[in-house]
Amino acid sequence: MSLPPGFLDELRSRTSITQVVGRKVMWDTRKSNQGKGDMWAPCPFHQEKTASFHVDDRKGYYFCFGCNAKGDALGFVKETENVSFMEAVEILALEVGMQMPVADPKSKQKFDRQAKLAEVMEQALKFFCLRLNTSSAADARSYLSDRGLPQEVRERFEIGFAPNSWQELWDYLTNKSVDDELILAAGLAKPSNNGKRPYDTFRNRIIFPIRDPRGRCIGFGGRAMDPADNAKYLNSPETELFDKGRSLYNYGPAREATGKGKLLVVAEGYMDVIALAQAGFEAAVAPLGTAVTETQLQLMWRVSDEPIIALDGDKAGVRAAQRLIDLALPLLQAGKSLRFAVMPQGQDPDDLIRQDGPGAMQRLLDNAKPMVELLWEREVHGKNFDSPERKAALDKTLREKLNLIKDPSIRGHYGQALKSLRWELFRLKSKTQNFKAWGRQSISPQATTRSSSLAVSDENSHVLRQSVILATLLKAPEALASVETQLEDLQFLKSEHRKIQQFLLQYSGDLEQLWQTAEQTFGVQKLEDLLSLPHVSIAPSIRNCGDIELVVTCLLQEFAQIFAVDAHGREVAEAVQDQSDLDDEGLTWRLNESAKHVQETLQGGQDDKTEYRTASNGLKLKLEEQDRLKNLLEKINFSKPDTK
Ligand code: UTP
Ligand code: MN
Repeated sequence: MSLPPGFLDELRSRTSITQVVGRKVMWDTRKSNQGKGDMWAPCPFHQEKTASFHVDDRKGYYFCFGCNAKGDALGFVKETENVSFMEAVEILALEVGMQMPVADPKSKQKFDRQAKLAEVMEQALKFFCLRLNTSSAADARSYLSDRGLPQEVRERFEIGFAPNSWQELWDYLTNKSVDDELILAAGLAKPSNNGKRPYDTFRNRIIFPIRDPRGRCIGFGGRAMDPADNAKYLNSPETELFDKGRSLYNYGPAREATGKGKLLVVAEGYMDVIALAQAGFEAAVAPLGTAVTETQLQLMWRVSDEPIIALDGDKAGVRAAQRLIDLALPLLQAGKSLRFAVMPQGQDPDDLIRQDGPGAMQRLLDNAKPMVELLWEREVHGKNFDSPERKAALDKTLREKLNLIKDPSIRGHYGQALKSLRWELFRLKSKTQNFKAWGRQSISPQATTRSSSLAVSDENSHVLRQSVILATLLKAPEALASVETQLEDLQFLKSEHRKIQQFLLQYSGDLEQLWQTAEQTFGVQKLEDLLSLPHVSIAPSIRNCGDIELVVTCLLQEFAQIFAVDAHGREVAEAVQDQSDLDDEGLTWRLNESAKHVQETLQGGQDDKTEYRTASNGLKLKLEEQDRLKNLLEKINFSKPDTK
């Protein structure tokens, strides 16, 4: 429809943008000046607490200084209501009491033509529904019963049956004086190649009607009952009425259900939608046998902020979900996203509901994963990141994906989320493999094995570990950013260590300054002492191994061990205090659990035949570990820790 000249100007001059925007924001009354039409509010397009969203009522424009969103009243309605430009015009025109112009002749023609085709589709649907109740449809009815679709569901979804004959629908419609051309244009029959009469598109199939948001029947899906049929589903061809990429199965009822608070669930097929609706998930839709399109995504977002994608638990379903992520990334807006319910292997929602009931489906929906997690899984699944090159490749892909996101605020949040997932991944790895790299470089192979009295909680070993951590960080400050939280949480025993801790935390953002300032602050000699610790000199540094991840993983291993030992110490102390309230069993269990954790951490996931020895406090110690520490302690003349 085209608008007459001047219509939009009139609409704009009658509309108060302050009023339109005011429905969606809370004005900052202190910053705003209503008299001047100069209004400020927290931006509705990105997350913020301050008011950087500005509306100039006289000019009729809004602009956000935070995210650069800008436009006029129509643009605002379009963005916030998720409607087309014309729909936004309609909404505002209705509000200010302007009559929408009648359609131009060309679009009126199109409208009328579509109405005629829809009418033919409606007649065909009536035919299919009637046929389902005839004697020729006995097999179809028992098929539906076997699949758990009782009469009321058949009626609700208007399920029909196309008989096994070449012209029955054709004859039915032509007898009702429907033009041949209309039947063909509606995709209900196909012209014959050998001069005979056109033949019906759907034969011997269960029929599912597809309606558009306005409720018009625009197409059909037909399911073969015979497993040997070469097409399980046959859908109406694209017609003047039916555009698969712009339609979703069951959209109208689903939209209504979302209005009543139901979650929008996106499944793969007709049968899934029906099973979902039967199980109480009425807001279910499905694309029509093709990959989800941008238009379909916008349709979903129009009725739901966060549709849940429940695609089949097979390879095709996973691939479809992955494609959907790439489609959705550039389209993400504040508040609009997707979640993914991961179906069990080989099952679709229909299978799951039949097999395990609606409760199982509900649990799956409750546990739906945010899109960022699926994106992450896709990039790391089955891949190995054991070299700097591979890690760099991962970083590059993640950066590329992030750059697809147009909304700056969402991009920021995704960046954060991916960073912490990346962090988790490499930390986990560090537990299981990388410690070996450090452990192998034993200081002295013929080190004493006689020293068995060194307990894990020994203060000296603690202080030693702590100096190793600090020295390593001084040597490789590039690792600081990755272990900041751990460094902050660690309670250093020596006051000079606490000073270095504070210093490192303070300069973690400015590595260039760090070393120079360190010399000034602590003196060259002190630092050299620290850095010449044998343990430190064998610890990998970026300069000698070039691998920051290795340094980080080694550091994390040290942190984990100190934390585990500390926690065990606390547990012992508390347990002793609680002794009177606890029966023996409880106490033993607690101590065992705690000791187990220490052991696991000290073992660092190594599955080798390392020897262990039980220390005086009941903990198992790895021999190599003990010896290394013992040896070090003998070599270094350490001042006694000031534990106060
Ligand atoms: P599925 O093969 O997953 O079928 O196709 P389904 O929905 O589980 O159906 P049942 O349970 O076997 O009856 C999912 C969707 O893909 C389209 C249809 O829209 C179907 O609902 N499709 C599938 C086709 O268009 N053609 C086909 O041959 C198969
Ligand atoms: Mn199925």
